[in-house]
Amino acid sequence: MQKKKEIDLNQILNNLTMKEKIGQLLQIAPFYFIRNIDVEIFGWLRELNLNEEKIFNAGSVLGIGSAKDMIEVQTKYLSKSRHKIPLIFMADIIHGYKTIFPVPIALASSFNEELVTLSARLSAEEASTAGIHVTFSPMADLSRDPRWGRVVEGFGEDPVLSSRMAAAMVKGYIGEGIDKEYTLTPCVKHFAGYGACDGGRDYNTVNISNVDLFNMHLKPYKSALDAGSRLIMAAFNTLNGIPCTVNSFLLKNILRDKWQSDAVTISDYDGSKQVIAHGVAKDTEEVAYKAIKSGLDIEMQSTTYSSHLETLIDNGLVDVKLLDEAVYRVLKLKKDIGIFDNPFKGAVLDDSKIVLTEDKLLRSKQIAHESLVMLKNDGVLPLKKDCKIALIGPYADSRNIIGPWSWHGKRDLHESLYEVLLNHVIFMKTEEDICKYSDSDIDIIKKADVILFALGESDWLSGEAHSRTDINLPNNQAKLLEIANISKLKSVVLLFNGRPLTLNNIQKADSIIECWFLGSKSSEAIKDVIFGNINPSGKLPISFPRNVGQIPIYYNHLNTGRPLTKNGNNEYVSKYLDSPNEPLYPFGYGLSYSNFEYKDMKLSKTKMKLNDVLVAQVEVVNNSKYNGKETVQLYIKDHFAEISRPVMELIAFKKIQVEAYQRAIVKFKISINDLMYFDSLGNKKYDLGKFSVMIGTSSVEYLVKEFELVE
Ligand code: BGC
Repeated sequence: MQKKKEIDLNQILNNLTMKEKIGQLLQIAPFYFIRNIDVEIFGWLRELNLNEEKIFNAGSVLGIGSAKDMIEVQTKYLSKSRHKIPLIFMADIIHGYKTIFPVPIALASSFNEELVTLSARLSAEEASTAGIHVTFSPMADLSRDPRWGRVVEGFGEDPVLSSRMAAAMVKGYIGEGIDKEYTLTPCVKHFAGYGACDGGRDYNTVNISNVDLFNMHLKPYKSALDAGSRLIMAAFNTLNGIPCTVNSFLLKNILRDKWQSDAVTISDYDGSKQVIAHGVAKDTEEVAYKAIKSGLDIEMQSTTYSSHLETLIDNGLVDVKLLDEAVYRVLKLKKDIGIFDNPFKGAVLDDSKIVLTEDKLLRSKQIAHESLVMLKNDGVLPLKKDCKIALIGPYADSRNIIGPWSWHGKRDLHESLYEVLLNHVIFMKTEEDICKYSDSDIDIIKKADVILFALGESDWLSGEAHSRTDINLPNNQAKLLEIANISKLKSVVLLFNGRPLTLNNIQKADSIIECWFLGSKSSEAIKDVIFGNINPSGKLPISFPRNVGQIPIYYNHLNTGRPLTKNGNNEYVSKYLDSPNEPLYPFGYGLSYSNFEYKDMKLSKTKMKLNDVLVAQVEVVNNSKYNGKETVQLYIKDHFAEISRPVMELIAFKKIQVEAYQRAIVKFKISINDLMYFDSLGNKKYDLGKFSVMIGTSSVEYLVKEFELVE
């Protein structure tokens, strides 16, 4: 084994000129290093004012496609740079490199941390072969507005689920340690509150109260850091008036002081420059001044530091100590990843034994099996083995169902639904417009046993900068369901989408499955489920509203002073005149072919002392002939506190397997930590008195018991 070099980071730091130090905080795209900047770099890229000197002092690279490119860039860089500190390569590996796994919102639906860890582990194994060292993942932003396109990249609306999923993903990327081969170093993003943008419009204003920030939004980032994320990306948005890129409350008070984290901070793509558009700096010099003072280390695709930091320091406006600390963090990361020892770490020119292997594709399918969510089933599923199918809709024969942020995933490699269902399909048409279906079409359709409608949003309708105000199925696709009526056949809707949709107008379908975007093996995984080879077990990580007017809608809201009650006088209460308050499909909801019954809930005591552990248990019975998996969810309600507390909050869940006609006892331990919350100053509090514990199959179907917290 190669002996590790002795690396003295302070000595390296001391040997750097000011310009070289500042360079370590610059991240730019790979082409700058290998193209002729005078001839080939044009348009707005020129505004970065990069020259040969700045480029060959840069510290990191944004995005790289292959080992060949990485080797070329690093070789050229090392040959030209004086200090020869290797570049670190960062990229967006969101749900796979070449083998694509389900999108994060689908992974969250699995409620299965082991699978999430596995997807990240395999992604890291593949992506590291391109010489990528850091991935801009997980996205730990809570999503409470389905209009926001980036719902697809996160883990939904709940802080505990998101925290556990973010940590599971981090664990998978890191594997045995970031110094090892086949690993990625995670960069959790977007700090903070990016998912709470006004109106669900991407990049828009975010205002979050401290109580909500501490109890909801900040938790998943913290969880990712605790699990080993070594970087954290500042969000594009303003948080309570201050752009996150220059937000010292977030980058210093919370991150460094409260959480004691030494994670490297990085802006989002040209986030520094955007501070000017936010109106919080008049020019790039002021941005540089504010950013370094607020605790921003690396600038992604902005050059305010390389243009101004030296002058700011020379003029005594910025303490060089701030620069040194930031550079030290970057150097330490490089050392810990091991690129001082091997600047080409990871890069494998022939990756054929590692990427897209049969084993990885099989794993991708197994993860997909647990990531889809059955929303409705009036007995039509599972289909009979000899079932004849009419397959209708825009995604009937599409290979474009692997999901957004699949840069390196080749869509053409993976099969469409039609291709995997070929032996069953007697009619297939991808037209979205019902008028395009003729009488002779209907005559053939009538010969089928069932119609499968493959509907949804193209993957281009979700993701960054893809917000929508209308979250119905696009192009009036729901109208296609009339074909089921005309032909008097049972129907199954398979949905491909990256956000909750309003689904009122497809309720006449006999069955509905939320497939999200399931990655490379989408079609096969769906086939396994609809034919009953796999029993669906996903649960929704986010509420599905009935209409856009209900947004924001999430299960863990506060009570109002005039709540809507089941049997009371409901005139002057908190309600809509034209819609129920509840979502169409609630958080935690998802059906199985099994029929799970919850009974005999017990608490180990009715009074819990502060240092007691209370055990809550329930019996889950599988009253069906199908072996199945069930996510047992535990929620609490703190009845009286110093501040109004949510009507219910998920504090734990367990995914269990229960064989046909068998039962399982599920136990949860509840300690004071589960009952505590943050006040508006960020201090942890608890309240003596009454608590309810709810254990159930979703946030609306559960058993309840009460206990009292006593001194
Ligand atoms: C996105 C980030 C991403 C970055 C680098 C930005 O536009 O907001 O999530 O990591 O680009 O690609």
